[in-house]
Amino acid sequence: MAKTRVQFLCNQCGNVHPKWMGKCPDCGTWDSLEEYKAPTLDTHGAQRAGLAVRGPQSVTGDLLRGGEAVAMNDIDEDDTPRMPCGIAEFDRVLGGGIVPGSAVLIGGDPGIGKSTLLLQVAHALRGPEGTEGRSILYVTSEESARQTALRAGRLGVRGSKLLVLAETNVERIINQIQKRQPAVVVIDSIQMIYKPDIPAAPGSVTQLRSCCMDLVYLAKASGIAVLFVGHVTKAGTLAGPKIIEHIVDTVVYFEGDRFHSHRIVRCIKNRFGSTHEVGLFEMTGSGLREVADPGNLFLEQYGPQGPPSGSVITAAMQGSRVLLVEVQALTASSVIGAARRKVSGVSADRVAMIVAVLEKRAELRLAADDVFVNIAGGVRVVEPGIDLAIALAIASAHLKRPVGAGTLVVGELGLGGEVRSVAQLEQRLREAGRLGLGHAIVPHMGSNVPKLGGMALHEVRWLANAMADL
Ligand code: TYD
Ligand code: MG
Repeated sequence: MAKTRVQFLCNQCGNVHPKWMGKCPDCGTWDSLEEYKAPTLDTHGAQRAGLAVRGPQSVTGDLLRGGEAVAMNDIDEDDTPRMPCGIAEFDRVLGGGIVPGSAVLIGGDPGIGKSTLLLQVAHALRGPEGTEGRSILYVTSEESARQTALRAGRLGVRGSKLLVLAETNVERIINQIQKRQPAVVVIDSIQMIYKPDIPAAPGSVTQLRSCCMDLVYLAKASGIAVLFVGHVTKAGTLAGPKIIEHIVDTVVYFEGDRFHSHRIVRCIKNRFGSTHEVGLFEMTGSGLREVADPGNLFLEQYGPQGPPSGSVITAAMQGSRVLLVEVQALTASSVIGAARRKVSGVSADRVAMIVAVLEKRAELRLAADDVFVNIAGGVRVVEPGIDLAIALAIASAHLKRPVGAGTLVVGELGLGGEVRSVAQLEQRLREAGRLGLGHAIVPHMGSNVPKLGGMALHEVRWLANAMADL
C-alpha cells in the first residue's frame, strides 16, 4: 500500500508546501493552499498518484500496471514508438529516438556541451512552430532561467512549447511535471537536485539516488521521458553519474576534450536499442553541429613528404560506423628501470601488452625507453582491432622509419606475435578506400578477400611480417 502524506497545494502557482499557510510563500496569493494527498513511493517503489498511466507504449509502464505474471507470448511486442528529435546523430545514439517513459542519462565532463546539446534537442523535439507540437520542460538547476534563455538565444532556440523551470527541489519539480504534463523533461543537472526530507547535501550519493529514482518512477508511470544531465566528477564530495547508471534505461557519455571542436556522444547502455552507437558533433559558435560524414575529420594532411615516423592510420569501428584515426607513438630514452608508458585515447593495459609483444616477438628493445601513445584528435578507441597499428606506430617511432603514406593498418595482436582477424574488415577497408588510401596491412584472410578496386592489400600472419613494411 502506498503511504500518503498530507501536503498543501497552491491553486495559483501549483507549488506544494508541507503545512497550511494563509498566504502562499512562493506566489504571495492569499488563501490559495488546498489539501493535497501525494502518495510517496510504496515499499516497492510504485507509481505516484495524480498521473494517468498513458497507455501501453512503455514496456516498463506495462510492467508497473499489474502485479500478475504474464506469459511471454501474450506480451504485445509492438515496436516501441519513439520520438525522433530530428538531430540524426543524437537519434542514432538512442537507437532511433527517445522512447516515451524512458530515462536517459547524459554524462560528461563539465563544459563539454551537455547543456548545449540538450537545449538543442529540446528545441528540436517540440516540433515546428505553429503546429500542435510537444511540450518540453527544461529544468535548470545550475543556471538561472535568464542564463538559460541567454544561451537559448545564442542557439536560436525559442518557442512557447519549451518551458524553462529554474528549480532544485525535486518535489516542486515533480509537481510542475504533474501540472504541465510535458512529453519530455530535461533535468540539467541531477547533481544539483535535492529532496528536502533527506538530510544530505545535493550531489551526495543518497540525494542523487533518491531524486533520480523518484523521477524515473514518474517517467515509468506517466510515459513522460526524462533526460538527466550528470557531470563526471573527480572522486570527492560530489557523486559521479556512475551511481545512477543502473537506474536509468539508457546511458550516453560525451567524449572529446575542450581543446578540440568535435564531440563524440557514445552510448554505453541502452535497454531500447544497440549500445556502442556514437554520434559525432562539432562545437561551433552557434551550438553543436552534426557531423554526418566523419570522413578524414581525424586525419592530418601531411604534405608530399608523407607522415613522420610513429604515425599510423587505422580504422576503428564506432558502433555501426567506421572512423579513420591516426595512432601516434613516440619513444624516448629514459632512466633504466623507470621507463614510463603514457597513453591517451587507448587502454594503458593494452599498450603494455603490445610493448611486451614487440620486445619478445619482434626483438625491439624498449626497456630503456619511455613510450607514449596517443590517438590524434582526442578520440578514444577501445577495440583490439587497432593493436597492430599501435605496434607499428611504436616500432616506426623507435626505428625512425615512417610507414608509407596512404597506408591503413588493421589487426588484432596475439601474445604469440600473431596477427588476428578483426570484425567488419571489409567495411573498414571500403571506408579507407573511399578516403583515398591505396594500401592496407591486414590480417591473413584466406579465401574471402573482398574485392576492393584500387586498394593493394598486404596480408600478414605475424607481427614480424608487418614490420618488414617499415
Ligand atoms: P555547456 O553546454 O555549458 O557544457 P556543460 O553543460 O557540459 O557543462 O557548454 C560549454 C562550452 O561550450 C562553453 O565553454 C562554451 C561552448 N559553447 C560554444 O562553443 N558554442 C555555443 O554555441 C555554446 C552554447 C557553447
Ligand atoms: Mg551545463
